Amino acid sequence: MDKFVIKGGIPLRGTVEISGAKNAAAAIIPAVILSDEACVLENVPAISDVSIALRMLYEMGAQVETINRTTYRIDATTINNYVVPYEMARKMRASYYFLGSLLGKFGHARVSMPGGCPLGSRPIDQHLKAFSSLGAECTLDHGMVDVAAENLSGSQIYLDVVSVGTTINAILAAVKAKGLTIIENAAREPHVVDVANFLNSMGADIMGAGTDVIKIRGVNYLRGTTYSIIPDQIEAGTFMIAAAATKGDVTVTNVIPKHLEAITAKLEKIGVNVMEYDESVRVWVDGPLVKTNVKTQPHPGFPTDMQPQIATLLTFAEGTSMVTEGIWEDRFRYVDELRRMGADISVDGKVAVIEGTGKLMGAPVRACDLRAGAALIIAGLAASGTTEIEDIYHVERGYDSMEVKLRALGADIVKKTIPSGLSRKAI
Ligand code: EPZ
Repeated sequence: MDKFVIKGGIPLRGTVEISGAKNAAAAIIPAVILSDEACVLENVPAISDVSIALRMLYEMGAQVETINRTTYRIDATTINNYVVPYEMARKMRASYYFLGSLLGKFGHARVSMPGGCPLGSRPIDQHLKAFSSLGAECTLDHGMVDVAAENLSGSQIYLDVVSVGTTINAILAAVKAKGLTIIENAAREPHVVDVANFLNSMGADIMGAGTDVIKIRGVNYLRGTTYSIIPDQIEAGTFMIAAAATKGDVTVTNVIPKHLEAITAKLEKIGVNVMEYDESVRVWVDGPLVKTNVKTQPHPGFPTDMQPQIATLLTFAEGTSMVTEGIWEDRFRYVDELRRMGADISVDGKVAVIEGTGKLMGAPVRACDLRAGAALIIAGLAASGTTEIEDIYHVERGYDSMEVKLRALGADIVKKTIPSGLSRKAI
C-alpha cells in the first residue's frame, strides 16, 4: 500500500505537460478490437486503468507491443475469446466497452458486471437497451453480462439519460452493423468525439459526434490506423485548480483550451486569472478568491469529474458557495476527509454548502475514489502542515505520474510505502 505525504503551503510554479485522456483511452483501447488490422495508439496515459485494459486485450489473444511509454501497437485480429472475467472487469468500470467492441466485431460478448469508482448506483440499463435496439439479446447471469446477435442491424436509439458510456458503446456496436444507426440524446463529451475520430480514421462512417444526434452507417471493414489520443481535460483542470489553491502560477501545456471552457469560466468567477494560448493555459492568482455556485452537468456543462477539486478550491474562497452534483448520486464521500482538514462543508443529498474558511490544516486522510484523491492532493498542497493520503491506488488509476509532475512544480510531495498491516484502514 502506498501513500502520498505532502508538506503544504508552497505555491506551485512552472510548466506541466498533460497526458492523454484516461476516459478516451479507456474506450479506444477496447475499440481496437473492431479493427481488421493492427493499430498504433499514441499519447496513451501511463495509468493503471490503461495497463488493465491492455492486459485484458492480451489475455484475450491480442498482440500488444510497447513502442515507448505512451505508444502501443495493438494487433487484435488474433483475439480468440470474447469473455472478460470478473477478476479483470472488477478493476475497471470501463470494462463495459469490451461489450460494445466484442459485440460489434464477433456478435458475442460475455463481460463481468463492471467495477470502478463508488459513486452510487451505476446501472448499465441504457447500454443494454442500445444493444437490444441493434438486435442483440442481452442476459445477466451470475454477475456476467452476455450479449449476442446473429446479425446487428442499424436502428434508432434514444437515450433516456445522457450517458457517456452508453453513447460510446452504442457507437462501438453499430460501427459494423448493417445500415444506419441514429443515437439521439447522445453525450457530447470530448472523449465521445475522440472515439468517433479514431473509428473514422479506420474507415468508419460516423457523423455528428459532439452533438446530441450521432449517425453511424455500418461498414464491413476497418483498416489499421495510427491515432493520437486527446489530452486529458480533467487532468488539466486538476492542475489548474492546484495552481489556484496554492496561489501559484502554472502553465498547463498539451491541452485543448476549448475542452476547458466550463472550468476556466468558473475559475475566473472565483477570481483566478486564466490566459488561454493555442495549446496551453496559464493559471495564476494575484487577489482574493471569492465564493461561487457550481452545478455539474453533461458536457458542455461543468464536468462532474472536476466537482471534488473545485469544491476543495472553494474552501479557500471568501463567502458561502454551493456545489450541486447533477450526475452521480453519491459523489460527496470525500467531504468527510476534507472536514478532517478543517473544511466547513455540509452536505444535503446532492448539494454541498461550503463556508470558505480560507485555510485547511494537514491531516491523515484517505482517498475514496479517483477524483476524491485528486481533491485531497489539492487540499494537502494548499494546507498548512503535513497531509498523508492513503489508498492512492485510486489516483494512480487515472493520473499519470501525478506526484512527479507536482514535484516539478515545486511541491513537497513524496510517495511512501506503508508497511502491510499499518494502514489506517487495516487498524
Ligand atoms: C463516464 O462514466 C466516466 N467514466 C466518468 O468518469 C464520468 O464521471 C461520467 O462518464 C460522467 O461524465 C469513463 O469514461 C470510463 P455515464 P459513465 O454513463 O460512462 C446514469 C472519472 O472520475 N446511467 O455518463 O459510466 C448514471 O447512473 C469518472 O473519470 C444510467 O442510468 O457515466 C449517471 O447518473 C468516474 N444508466 C449518468 O447516467 C446507464 O445505463 C451518467 O453516467 C448508464 C448511465
